[in-house]
Amino acid sequence: MLRRTLILAAGAAGVLAAVSGAQAQQTVKIGLILPLTGPFTAIGRQVEMGARLYMQQKGNTVAGQTIELLVKDDGSVADATKRIAQDLIVNEKVNVLAGFGLTPLALATAPLATQAKIPTVVMAAGTATITEASPFITRTSFTLPQATEPMADWAFKNGIKKVVTLVSDYGPGIDSEKAFVGVFTKAGGQVESLRVPLANPDFSPFLQKVADAKPDALFVFVPAGQGAQFMKQFVERGFDKSGIKLIGPGDVTDDEVLNNIGDVALGAITTHHYSVAHDSPENKAFVEAFKKANNMRPNFMAVGGYDGMHLIYEGLKKTNGQGGQALIDAMKGMSWTSPRGPVSIDPQTRDIIQNIYVRKVERKDGELYNVEFATIPNVKDPVKAAKAN
Ligand code: PHB
Repeated sequence: MLRRTLILAAGAAGVLAAVSGAQAQQTVKIGLILPLTGPFTAIGRQVEMGARLYMQQKGNTVAGQTIELLVKDDGSVADATKRIAQDLIVNEKVNVLAGFGLTPLALATAPLATQAKIPTVVMAAGTATITEASPFITRTSFTLPQATEPMADWAFKNGIKKVVTLVSDYGPGIDSEKAFVGVFTKAGGQVESLRVPLANPDFSPFLQKVADAKPDALFVFVPAGQGAQFMKQFVERGFDKSGIKLIGPGDVTDDEVLNNIGDVALGAITTHHYSVAHDSPENKAFVEAFKKANNMRPNFMAVGGYDGMHLIYEGLKKTNGQGGQALIDAMKGMSWTSPRGPVSIDPQTRDIIQNIYVRKVERKDGELYNVEFATIPNVKDPVKAAKAN
């Protein structure tokens, strides 16, 4: 009898705690920190448009709570990201942090997420280790090794034996270089590696070295938005007529800049998790709504923002509006159909598991697209997968 009473009392207390936890707070605040000025504005803008589109479609009430989005510009300066995150946590009392246009910006915030136990959704940055920097970080973008390993595999199997890699000299570029070199040399390929500064890159001297090396293919990683500048110098150096193939993860031919790059991009082979040309009803609806709202194409950054909001909304439904540890736990293992295809959050690593597609730049109805022609299903971040084995 006594035991039963105790169990009932504990049960009632649990329910009360849950109800008060959900009702005490009427608003769930999401702090979205992005580069909205400076050289990486294109990234921030795409993520913000994706996140806002999701809210426009689904409304701003979840589990009886009002969702409030606070958008902040860090100008892609890591110290600013950290200061803004601190202010959002202490003064605005945000329940969720999100955004993070570049790797250093996500890493600067990780210790704050841990200290304050704030679920933090990385929607753009792609260095593999980011999710290891805090147990409160999850991700709806991608990792460079996840997108790159299939490229190395495809290249070797398709007669490319000698490659020069050219990457931006920071986290995601180095991740991409390592992933490519690892898989490609193991298969028997030959690689020379070059790294170009992230800020204001001049690709010309590096392209001269590539011309001298005469590889079968040039593998390139530059962050989204820099592809246009790279391709301009690629043409100026005559690479479009050199017979050297252009390959890489899909950042260099991102859907926003692809039409501006023009015909020089035709035939480029890339591997990535999202193409605006992805053939599914979910993507058709997404692209149509995005274009209507923003008068431009979405790219993979917009999908990271859109899916990041989905993860937050669905997590809150599961916790009945509670944040903190309950919310990050609710996000683990979640799966859904994204405009990019089927995705899930790896419960062990909190990183995204998704298809990687092999694509070729083609012209269709007067526009350039990354047209998918092969799928590698359910790819985990290979760096963390290798550690787990
Ligand atoms: C990053 O900084 O992690 C990053 C930025 C842009 C990309 C990919 C990765 O396109």
